[in-house]
Amino acid sequence: MAGPGRQWWRDAVIYQVYPRSWADSDGDGIGDLPGITERLPHLAGLGVDAVWLSPFYTSPQRDGGYDVADYRDVDPLFGDLAAFDALVARAHGLGLRVIVDIVPNHSSDAHPWFRAALASPPGSPERARYLFRDGSDEGRLPPNNWTSMFGGPAWTRVTEPDGTPGQWYLHMFDTSQPDFDWTNPEVRDELEDVLRFWLDRGVDGFRIDVAHGLVKFEDLPDTDLTLDANVDATALAPMWDQPGVHEIYRSWRRLADSYAVEGEDADRILCAEAWVLPAQALAQYVRADELHQSFNFEYLMTPWLPDEQRASITRSLAQAGAVGAPQTWVLSNHDVVRHATRLGYPQHPGLQRIAGIGADDPQPDPVLGLRRARAATAVMLALPGSAYLFQGEELGLPEATRLPDESRQDPTWERSGHTQRGRDGCRVPMPWEGDAPSYGFGPGERSWLPQPAEFGALAVDRQRDDPGSTLSLYRALLAVRRTHRLGLGHLTWLDGHPEDVLAFEVTSEDASVTVLANLGTDPLTLPDSADVLLTSAFPGTAGHVGPDETVWLRS
Ligand code: NOJ
Repeated sequence: MAGPGRQWWRDAVIYQVYPRSWADSDGDGIGDLPGITERLPHLAGLGVDAVWLSPFYTSPQRDGGYDVADYRDVDPLFGDLAAFDALVARAHGLGLRVIVDIVPNHSSDAHPWFRAALASPPGSPERARYLFRDGSDEGRLPPNNWTSMFGGPAWTRVTEPDGTPGQWYLHMFDTSQPDFDWTNPEVRDELEDVLRFWLDRGVDGFRIDVAHGLVKFEDLPDTDLTLDANVDATALAPMWDQPGVHEIYRSWRRLADSYAVEGEDADRILCAEAWVLPAQALAQYVRADELHQSFNFEYLMTPWLPDEQRASITRSLAQAGAVGAPQTWVLSNHDVVRHATRLGYPQHPGLQRIAGIGADDPQPDPVLGLRRARAATAVMLALPGSAYLFQGEELGLPEATRLPDESRQDPTWERSGHTQRGRDGCRVPMPWEGDAPSYGFGPGERSWLPQPAEFGALAVDRQRDDPGSTLSLYRALLAVRRTHRLGLGHLTWLDGHPEDVLAFEVTSEDASVTVLANLGTDPLTLPDSADVLLTSAFPGTAGHVGPDETVWLRS
């Protein structure tokens, strides 16, 4: 069991790398593990505590690797197990922990289990690992009315080994991602064994994909909900947030704890990707004997409006606090429109998640977007708890909103009949060197998605020594956050400021920092005595907090 010492994850800043898009060592246009290893010093210099790698496992890549064919191996696109071991060793050498993705809701249709299921008859043990059902209307129609998150029905009909049209299998995502049947003990044992495999290789934790989806309501009834996790109390939907998931995570927690070392700050952690509402329900995932963290997507979706921000932060802290867990904060990831773009609409677009933005959609104001994104990040990194960053946000990268439609690879684009552009716009490969081909992503020109021309000016080497760059701002925020241990602090809202200013103090054992974020349109005048630690705008206006600017003051 973990010793009584510090629990590193309570205030950790964790940086998400999407392996296809971070750094390409061999010039095939797709990022890989050796590329990541080589670029890890960027993360040490940035000042984060851990790196989370999206899936790099053997996969047909129908959903960017979230379709796993072999949970215990590395896809040759990304390297091999030796390259993974080298990455972990290098990261640990630099003082960075390594978190990997686990995808327990579904496998790929190329997984040997699913292949065996297709080759076996209805009712066989091979089929019992997935959710095969007979169709309705004498088999012609899907067993129920569920729809896939990527569009279209959540069921696909198979052809039986004898060539006749047969049963249907459930896939809440792409047809190539069949859902496991978690009532089957064989599935539970297998996934726990996969956790052990990576823990034995030295990983420091897991991000759990679709953590709220593993258990479905008995008999898979029809639903008349919109199935929009942004709107519906998810527990009302028969495929999300069913009580049975908690028992799975209690067991996973026991497993993770069995790897912790007494007296050492060496906890192995579990973080849920669970689009669960309301916040109270989400907090159930992080009770003391369950997961360590869950992503706070409610915060990510909160408009840049003062009352909404205050309410969201207050509610988030209260709900996590009620179960003794640290809250997490996140503004961008590989499934949502980047916050430098999202916030660039004078009218916040609200709940946009996977719809994506195309050239013919209303375009954001990039200057406003970046200014607000910097201000929002300066709020987030002051908040008590743990924060997640998505690769490239430290450069202020915008969403690529004008990708040619023929370059799109997100299954959402096809499955929605070309009505939803999907998530490629936030997954465009990183710019490292402004003057190099592929902006230094790889040794040559190739990049699996085209990089917009504006990425050149945002490359790491262009920002590194510029005191006004977004990269410099992130480094400064992370350094002050760490020095004053703000992530372990306590937040108090401050009275006496205009309504459209978020004003709070974070007090840790070491210091107190006052944060003023101006979400209004008039500059806020600071008292002469104000001791400014840093400001999100560059250059800031001395003595003022401008519109869409956040300052940190020594209290
Ligand atoms: C959530 C992941 O973040 C997303 O990228 C993926 O498409 C779905 N889960 C399905 O695995």
